[in-house]
Amino acid sequence: MSALFSPIEVKDVKLRNRIAIPPMCQYRANDGFVNDWHLAHYASIARGGAGLVIVEATGVAPEGRITPGCTGLWDDAQIEGMARIAAAIKAAGAVAGIQIAHAGRKASANRPWEGDDHIAADDRRGWDTLSPSAIAFGANLPKVPTAMTLEDIERVKADFAAAARRAKQAGFEWLELHFAHGYLAQSFFSVHANQREDEYGGDAVRRGRFLRETYHAVREEWPERLPLTARFGVIEYDGRDEETLQESIELVKALRGDGLDMLSVSIGFSTPKANIPWGPAFLAPIAERVRREAKIPVSSAWGFDSPANAERAVAQEQLDLVMIGRAHLANPHWPYHAAKTLKSDRPSWVLPAPYAHWLERYAVAE
Ligand SMILES: Cc1cc2nc3c(=O)[nH]c(=O)nc-3n(C[C@H](O)[C@H](O)[C@H](O)COP(=O)(O)O)c2cc1C
Repeated sequence: MSALFSPIEVKDVKLRNRIAIPPMCQYRANDGFVNDWHLAHYASIARGGAGLVIVEATGVAPEGRITPGCTGLWDDAQIEGMARIAAAIKAAGAVAGIQIAHAGRKASANRPWEGDDHIAADDRRGWDTLSPSAIAFGANLPKVPTAMTLEDIERVKADFAAAARRAKQAGFEWLELHFAHGYLAQSFFSVHANQREDEYGGDAVRRGRFLRETYHAVREEWPERLPLTARFGVIEYDGRDEETLQESIELVKALRGDGLDMLSVSIGFSTPKANIPWGPAFLAPIAERVRREAKIPVSSAWGFDSPANAERAVAQEQLDLVMIGRAHLANPHWPYHAAKTLKSDRPSWVLPAPYAHWLERYAVAE
């Protein structure tokens, strides 16, 4: 059997294979509320056969959204729409996950296809942003954030915990904390964004404090029997790479000690001056190192989307789960494509029976 199509158990949850769909913002929500677009999108990609579908970065507070079109779970009224999505993912045989997030100094942006930059200061659609220090990201995101007070820090941690409670009520069984990509939590860890002089800034232990405390606040709300994971940028590709990696691995070890179930290994994206070596599966050796040194199961994304690369990452024990993102936008049935390419037994049966039966019985031109 292919390694990619082997099942895996994490806590009380069983995934039918190692293919996961990473969070991908749709920018189609209104005031954080999901709608039929999200329902159709998530049902469609879940039917493709992945083991896990993680719903997009969902704001824990209105100011924590990346754009005005981002989803939210800061209000109990937002649970119902999310519950329909979680149910649709489960009905398709996948595990329903969600990423909860605060965008920090990268918030208040235009949708990617409407500029991908900060909303203009005189545009009423925008809002004030928060970050550990009053330092802008730069480039397309020049807005200077407000440095968070200790009260702000307490409030945002409580927002994460409340959003986790709502995610549980909506029926999600896998929770991912967005600690990556230059958003709020990553900014606390990053030397590019955090110049605080209190207990939340300074050495790596202090810069990791917000992340650990947020994790703990969420752990109180999220059931012990269900996977609690985080996505974290362990490297910035800013020339400080070995130091950042070592600091990151120490933080991951601490989180693992606190009970974190899996880490989604990603990139920091805390500075526009990064020099990222894009290429197929380029993060695989980094993810493998985090897995080995921090002794924690890992997933990763960014260019694992050829079936051979995805299979190799699992077979060689670099990754426990492979995130396949954009390839699912191109082909919502990507796992079926992978099953055929990897010559799995009865590949059409990664799809639901109403599709699988006919595809197995009658060949179709593709
Ligand atoms: C449309 C789109 C939206 C994304 N939104 C998120 C998000 O909400 N949270 C996140 O952590 N990453 C997000 N990402 C990054 C993806 O999760 C993933 O890491 C990236 O697409 C690389 O994987 P791939 O090469 O398989 O596409 C997004 C990527 C895309 C293309």
